[in-house]
Amino acid sequence: TANAQWGGRFAGGPSAIMREINASIGFDKAMWRQDIAGSLAHAAMLAKVGIISATDETKIRNGLTEIGREIEAGTFIFDDALEDIHMNIEARLSERIGEAGKRLHTARSRNDQVATDFRLWVRDAADGISAQIAALMLSLATRALEYADTAMPGFTHLQTAQPVTFGHHLLAYVEMLSRDRGRLADARRRLNECPLGSAALAGTSFPIDRKMTAAALGFDRPTANSLDAVSDRDFALEYLSALSILAMHLSRFAEEIVIWCSAPFSFIRLSDAFTTGSSIMPQKRNPDAAELARAKIGRVAGSLISLLTVMKGLPLAYAKDMQEDKVPVFEATEAVSLTLAACDGMVRDLKASERQMRTFAGSGFSTATDLADWLVRVLKLPFRTAHHVTGRLVALAEAKGTDLAELSLADMQSVEPGITNDVFSVLSVEASIASRTSEGGTAGANVRQQAEAWLKKLAPG
Ligand code: ARG
Repeated sequence: TANAQWGGRFAGGPSAIMREINASIGFDKAMWRQDIAGSLAHAAMLAKVGIISATDETKIRNGLTEIGREIEAGTFIFDDALEDIHMNIEARLSERIGEAGKRLHTARSRNDQVATDFRLWVRDAADGISAQIAALMLSLATRALEYADTAMPGFTHLQTAQPVTFGHHLLAYVEMLSRDRGRLADARRRLNECPLGSAALAGTSFPIDRKMTAAALGFDRPTANSLDAVSDRDFALEYLSALSILAMHLSRFAEEIVIWCSAPFSFIRLSDAFTTGSSIMPQKRNPDAAELARAKIGRVAGSLISLLTVMKGLPLAYAKDMQEDKVPVFEATEAVSLTLAACDGMVRDLKASERQMRTFAGSGFSTATDLADWLVRVLKLPFRTAHHVTGRLVALAEAKGTDLAELSLADMQSVEPGITNDVFSVLSVEASIASRTSEGGTAGANVRQQAEAWLKKLAPG
């Protein structure tokens, strides 16, 4: 039989496969709260401008509230034949309250309805993700303060570069995550316009009050162009872009956890709560959570590419293609939310092996730059020359199988006669770190100050 919501000009019903490919209820029921909120705002506005009666509005309001309870209680029956969440709820409303329910869809289309619901959903999701990012930043800043003076090797090319502190390293991620929050906040600002009242694509002849519905739903204003409003999914793409960059950051962090946990590094240890064993190798402690956090970017970036590809080449205005917008957004949100929670758990859980980190902070000639800088500062050598001299000293130390600091003064002077005993004062890891006091540098005092500033900014309440 024909669809009850639009079957007037149809004699027969859709084939089973038509129904199956057409139905979105399986996933868009996740937007039921947003759909009810949108309908409540729409009905209140219809009554206020006199398009429906106050009595009908009351019936609609009570009916929708009851339906919300049914869905929450799990007693609501979702029907594939009714395609999506919008028609499932509307059909149930008419079933419950009769004629009044059939008036709800006046001056509205599913096209502006779904655009509104989806914006509301993405807005809530962006707020939830942003709060989770803030929680992770707080955990990172807390651990950064704890490890503000803990030396570790800083790497470039994953080769020992210069000593840094573990706290400084953790705070680098706080900076990244702060930009991620900024991107979400920025996307949210642009998203926050209300499509409701754009109707199918052209607007409506009814004397609706779009400012009223926009305000009731917490939007800053109604959208300006009805064609754009029903066919725009930029807001979802911006959100997915922000999530993709965020997931990329989390993937980098997770990769570092994997590296730091591996036996040859042994920089940190995760407790039993965040490791798993092997079914064959009894000694194993695998950082699976970190590996999965490293991998989730695949889904998230995939979601962005998926929706970009869906939207590419779509002529204005609405096309059913756009129904494919929801699953990527839902999936990416779930993946990022879980990844944030796992990263937060690992940050709180991890224990740094400060001795191991300190040992490797001093290996690999990590203070060679400090030596070169000393030659510039004390002997007034041009930096390029100092670089060359230091390179020869490193080669000498390497040949002798020692560290730079273990070379004798005579060894040093065989390469550069001007070198004095004072040079040894800059060759320790501690001296190197303490000297990096430039703005944003790794000196312990800097790190403590930055960690404290973040803690103050992020403090709940
Ligand atoms: N389920 C649809 C979607 O998610 C709702 C809009 C349907 N509009 C239409 N003209 N068939 O996009």
